[in-house]
Amino acid sequence: MKKVGVAILGLGVVGGGTYKILTEHRDFYKKNHGVDITVESVLELNKQRAVNLGVQENKICSNIAEICSNPDIDIVVEVIGGLEPAKSFVLAALNSGKSVVTSNKELYCKYSHELEKAAKKNKVGLFYEATCVGGVPVIRALLDNLQGNKITSIMGIINGTTNYILSKMSDKGASYEEVLKEAQLLGYAEANPTNDVEGYDSTYKLSILSSLSFHTKVPYTEIYREGITKINIADIKYAKQFGYALKLLALGKDGENGIEVRVHPALIKSTHPLAGVNDSYNAVYIAGDSVENVMLYGRGAGALPTGSAIVGDIIYCATHPNHSYSTFKNTENADPSTKFVKNFESEYYIRLSAKDKAGVLSKITSLLGKHSISVSQVVQDKGETEGQAPLIMITHETKEHNIEKAVADINATGIAEVNSVLRVVS
Ligand code: HSE
Repeated sequence: MKKVGVAILGLGVVGGGTYKILTEHRDFYKKNHGVDITVESVLELNKQRAVNLGVQENKICSNIAEICSNPDIDIVVEVIGGLEPAKSFVLAALNSGKSVVTSNKELYCKYSHELEKAAKKNKVGLFYEATCVGGVPVIRALLDNLQGNKITSIMGIINGTTNYILSKMSDKGASYEEVLKEAQLLGYAEANPTNDVEGYDSTYKLSILSSLSFHTKVPYTEIYREGITKINIADIKYAKQFGYALKLLALGKDGENGIEVRVHPALIKSTHPLAGVNDSYNAVYIAGDSVENVMLYGRGAGALPTGSAIVGDIIYCATHPNHSYSTFKNTENADPSTKFVKNFESEYYIRLSAKDKAGVLSKITSLLGKHSISVSQVVQDKGETEGQAPLIMITHETKEHNIEKAVADINATGIAEVNSVLRVVS
């Protein structure tokens, strides 16, 4: 039987989950996949953590050179996260002839061109299913199962922390700050949540997914990014009244004018399948010209779900003789022929605090009209301050830059202040 040795770099949450899956399923993989996969080594500075997981002491090492020179290791799993030392370790493994499986979205997003070059040069595999949406098998779906399609759009809830926070704000009517605190206590959000709540994590994932979907490099720097830190509970309440859920969405479109990529909070119709994706669950909704719509749903993080994606890559690598690489020219920057749409079109939700007197609404709608913005729905609520009223509007489709100019004009009148502008996904 074919024997395959694995080394795991980092025995944190995901590394520990991967170790557990591999060791507990060894006989199952032998029987069903005809391959004997063993963990030959772990790189973990906290020796006790490795011992607690059941790793034999002679398999715990503290430097990458030992792993690179070990002939019993075929596949190196990188689950350290961050850029360094992860990048140096991955390059060292590839350059010593080992295939690499990584869950590191930031590393893969920013340096896949360099890593892939090293993998090709050394004729080894580079696998990254676990970089995007944890246990949800979206990378392989794009690489192997949907490749007969021209993918026209990809839309997803691809960050569990922010989805948990927005879901709880919606369920409990609690503020962002309150829910974040609770999420940190429960271990759903990190002590420094910036990477998740400001949308960076989603842009790394969207860069990878849209490059694969649209067959051209989509650097994360081309992605419009806005996080959830300014979301007010009032917006969730009004969104519900209009029949929408508020989600942090990652959107990629390949249209006539070019590629449009953005990560931002958005109102999505409560009947859309993504609107029902709650708590820390993730989902990706893909439109292809033949398949129509496909939605992949599941756990976007966690020891065993992410471990499942890693082990899937290990078995794939162990059972496929030839390695395949990107379906696009994998360079650092976008190909000069790729056009990116920045002034994108959307419907918008606008919440204003306006003076409650005759002529104010008509003044606001005439300023919107001046910038070719047409209103499709409008509601005036009772204000908490005497003489002031919240006005909530949904517009027809218009361009982002029109909205920016209209908001500046409205704020300059002194009769109304725009409190919130959110995009609406139709
Ligand atoms: N921090 C990520 C999330 C999980 O909250 O979804 C790992 O990608």
